[in-house]
Formats: sequence, structure tokens, C-alpha cells
Amino acid sequence: METLLEVDGMTKSLGEGAARLVIIGGLSFSARAGEFVSVAGPSGCGKTTLLMCLAGLYAIDGGAVRFEGRAVTEPPPGISVVFQDYSRSLLPWKSNLDNVIFGMKRTGLAEADKRTRAGELLLAVGLQGYEGHYPWQVSGGMQQRVAIARGLAAQSRLLLLDEPLAAVDAQTRAELQDLLLDLARRFNQTCVLVTHDVDEAVYMADRVIVLTRRPTRVLAELEVELPKPRDQLATREHPTFLRLRHEVVTLIRSMRQNA
Ligand SMILES: Nc1ncnc2c1ncn2[C@@H]1O[C@H](COP(=O)(O)OP(=O)(O)O)[C@@H](O)[C@H]1O
Ligand SMILES: [Mg+2]
Repeated sequence: METLLEVDGMTKSLGEGAARLVIIGGLSFSARAGEFVSVAGPSGCGKTTLLMCLAGLYAIDGGAVRFEGRAVTEPPPGISVVFQDYSRSLLPWKSNLDNVIFGMKRTGLAEADKRTRAGELLLAVGLQGYEGHYPWQVSGGMQQRVAIARGLAAQSRLLLLDEPLAAVDAQTRAELQDLLLDLARRFNQTCVLVTHDVDEAVYMADRVIVLTRRPTRVLAELEVELPKPRDQLATREHPTFLRLRHEVVTLIRSMRQNA
């Protein structure tokens, strides 16, 4: 299958002068078209920094990021990001519907088609009846659904997800995991999900990439050969799930001991 995203020996430092820190220390992985890749790593290891580089929002220092075979030097059409902090990424002066329409600004669709499609996306994320509300008038879980709908609205081939479910309650989190998997399949989207939650990383993915602590690199890659569609009970009780979870937790623990 086509390689959609390639990261090759990428390095990135942040901060100025003496405070400059190497965050990403030569990181390589790739994602094939249609694949769901989870990137798991401890808090502070550089996951958000990595996504910012993949999205072309940060310039990299060394190595390469290629999307559809071309070097990423600015945000390319074809990549969307759902940020961790949805309360700051949604526009408070726009309705939920207009926030989703905002996500389509590079699609070239006619205005009427944008409205129709935005309505369909809000329906798909279970927000029918809330199109005219503003983000601050709905719950955190609902705001994150708007952000996910907006991410999908761009009709990008690659969706980058930065711990999109970290701030919602456990029940909503399980629902949104299944919703994301369903939408990714229906819209044939390649996804890279960054998370510090090992269970979520394994549950969602075709492949899990485990990162080291800062300066971060790839510590391990694990194929997730679990039946689809995933199921909150059956998948999490599956021997393969338990084995993979055990392996990833052991890897993360080994890094702590090497400190
Ligand atoms: N603008 C910045 N300048 C300097 N250091 C930063 C900056 N942004 C993040 N960092 C540091 O980089 C490290 C990785 O941050 P981040 O990518 O947000 O990690 P993660 O998303 O894995 O929690 C952290 O130690 C953080 O303090
Ligand atoms: Mg982060």
C-alpha cells in the first residue's frame, strides 16, 4: 500500500539561547494510506511537538518529513489536525456549524455544499440540534465532537490527532473512540493519534509506535492484529490486546528504570 507519510531521522529543538532543548532526537516512522497509527509516549516526551512538525506548523531542524512524497515545509493541503485543547482551537464567535464550515476553507466547495456537508458531519458526530449553538454553550465532550467534525470537514487524507480525548469523562471517551474509528473508516482517512494512554493507543490502532523520553526517538513498533470493528468489551478482553498492552507498559516502565 502507498506510503502517505514518511518521517526520516527528524530532529527538532525548541526554546531560545541557553534554554534551547532538543525535543526530537532523530525520529523515523511511516504511515501507509488508510492506516491508523497510534503514537504512545510519556507526558513531556515531545508528542505535540512531533505533530506540529508533521503538520508543517513547526519547521524541523534536521531529517525529513514527507507527505505524499513531498517535503512538508508549510501546512500542506491534505493534512488536518485536531488539537488537544479544543476549547482554544474552536472559534467562540462562530456557531458549531460555522466552526465546521471554517474547516472547509481550502476545499473549494460552494457555500451551499459546505453548509450541507457541515450539517452531515455534525449529524455523524451526534450533534444534530446543536448546529446553531456556540461552542461555549455545549459540554466539553460536545466541543470535542465539533473539533473532530471540523477536522474531518477538510476532507484531508491525513488526520493528526493530539490526545483529542484526554479531557473528557470515561464514558464519553469510549464513545468518541468508537466514533473516531467509524468515521476514519467511512471517510477512508489515514490517522496518526498521539496519546499517553496505552490502552487507547492499542484499542484504536493498526500499529503502535512507542516513543522514548526526550529527546524522543522510536523505541518500538508493534503491529496490532486485533479483529475489526473494535469493541469496547471484546477487544479489551482479547488475549492479543492484553499481550500488547503488557508489552507497551513494560517498554515504558523500562525507560523509567534506565533514568
Ligand atoms: N516552545 C517551547 N520552548 C521550549 N520548550 C518547549 C516548548 N514547547 C514545549 N517544550 C518542552 O518540550 C517538551 C515536549 O513538549 P510536548 O511536545 O508538548 O510534549 P508532550 O506532548 O509529549 O507532552 C516538554 O518538556 C516541554 O516542556
Ligand atoms: Mg502534548
